[in-house]
Amino acid sequence: MLKWLENAVFYEIYPISFYDYNNDGKGDLKGIINKVGYLKELGVNAVWFNPIFKSPFKDGGYDIVDYYEIDEKFGSMQDLEELIKVFHENGIKVILDLVIGHTSNKHKWFKKSALKTKNKYSDYYIWTDDSMNSNEAIYGLYNRNGGYIKNYYASQPALNFGYNQLDLNSPWKMHYKDERLKPLRNEFLNLMRFYLEKGIDGFRVDMASSVIKEGKNFDGENPFDDSDEGLEGVKWFWNEILGTLRKEYKDKVYIAEWVVPQNSIGKCGFDIDFLTHDTLAFNELYRNENNTNLDKYYEKGYNYFSREGKGSLDNFVKYVEFLYSKIDNKGMFTAPTGTHDEIRMGTYKDNDLIKCIFAFLLTIKQIPFIYYGDELGIEHNFTVSKDGGLKRTGARTPMLWNEEKGRGFSQKSTTYLPVSTKKGISVESLTEKENSILNIVKDLIKIRKTHNSLKVSAKQEFIEKSYPAIYKRTGENEEIVVMINPSNGVYKRKEEYKKVLYFNNCEILSNEIILNACSFVILEK
Ligand code: NOJ
Repeated sequence: MLKWLENAVFYEIYPISFYDYNNDGKGDLKGIINKVGYLKELGVNAVWFNPIFKSPFKDGGYDIVDYYEIDEKFGSMQDLEELIKVFHENGIKVILDLVIGHTSNKHKWFKKSALKTKNKYSDYYIWTDDSMNSNEAIYGLYNRNGGYIKNYYASQPALNFGYNQLDLNSPWKMHYKDERLKPLRNEFLNLMRFYLEKGIDGFRVDMASSVIKEGKNFDGENPFDDSDEGLEGVKWFWNEILGTLRKEYKDKVYIAEWVVPQNSIGKCGFDIDFLTHDTLAFNELYRNENNTNLDKYYEKGYNYFSREGKGSLDNFVKYVEFLYSKIDNKGMFTAPTGTHDEIRMGTYKDNDLIKCIFAFLLTIKQIPFIYYGDELGIEHNFTVSKDGGLKRTGARTPMLWNEEKGRGFSQKSTTYLPVSTKKGISVESLTEKENSILNIVKDLIKIRKTHNSLKVSAKQEFIEKSYPAIYKRTGENEEIVVMINPSNGVYKRKEEYKKVLYFNNCEILSNEIILNACSFVILEK
């Protein structure tokens, strides 16, 4: 595993919503540079930016028309260079989003690919022939004699990195090793080199498993599936790309959006992957109580981080222990506090619960990813879909800096996405408030970064998976025990310890700890 990941704390920024420097109602790169002091003070040491490239924004910038140009609403290439410089001076790494599965249908490669005459870009995308034998293809929109395959929305045609296997009934499907696909692979290698040369520290790879078609695609049925069947193409592809780049650039991080860490990290050379989000994920901990779909991870579908206290971490622990054994120190997964695709946890969880969740995420064996604003407990703020965000739009609204009109995000009276009107949730007000989520998160990050027993490689052992959850982390000459009680129950524990490192809502007696409702304590043994 990359050494710097040991105590890395990542932060995700949705660039249009962080800080509006030029007061046009949209966040920009200069705005983000301006807020580097906040990030440093918070203690995060790597930032992942959602796409900042030229795009019609039919899917939040995940529909690119020019990978080599910064979208003008965000600024210029010069601004990016400045951002990299300033972030590095402040000890913060810069991670860009790599959208490799598709482009916008307005990209010049696609426009040329859609022409009836054969040209350099004809094979850049997946096109059927005229047999209309694919019900996945979209026919009839372009001059070319065939239909194209989309990767996400219809405006996002799939780039052609090939199929896992040839199919005699559909001769237009190319095998992933087909020589005709090499130019596109090189195109992306060169693109990655271009930004790595600028000094960025790595990429978060959008829909990483989608590059090869008809291989194994995670259907969420069996999170413990570890078979190699159907993985040949994608394994070959990523080992090829990442193997090449790792020879050229040291210490860069490659983060897969794949949600199958046993494949992405265990077999394909990535450093980080997300735990399943959306349907089965750890993020669901913050959501639908009684969702029986979650049985695989959570006892009877009950959400563990809930005041009613009916959940258990049993299945979660089984799952992560399976992952640790498969990842085998090559990297580590992340269970993010949220993402731009999720419902914000502030919607479902009250402040004390959110503090418990942060205490958990910042002390378990994983790589913390904090979604901007979650450290304030921002709520999902959904009114209307923008940029193809649908309900996700509610997680993408502006960061709240102060209590003034516009919340310190912008001076413009109407902002691109609506600013929350809820008072009392902002960096300014929560910094002043003792014991606020923000101040607790800052303290927890500090503790995480200064204790070797909280490093990613340090051992972890769960002692109790019900309420309170108790686990031990062991590093060199150091042992830490964490107890977390997200329920309304009150628990008394006799416990010997050297030092209390941190607590919230607990009473600490000389040989007893009382964990009141929604509490946690971190002990050095
Ligand atoms: C995953 C991204 O996180 C999401 O926002 C986007 O819509 C799809 N990939 C398509 O690129």
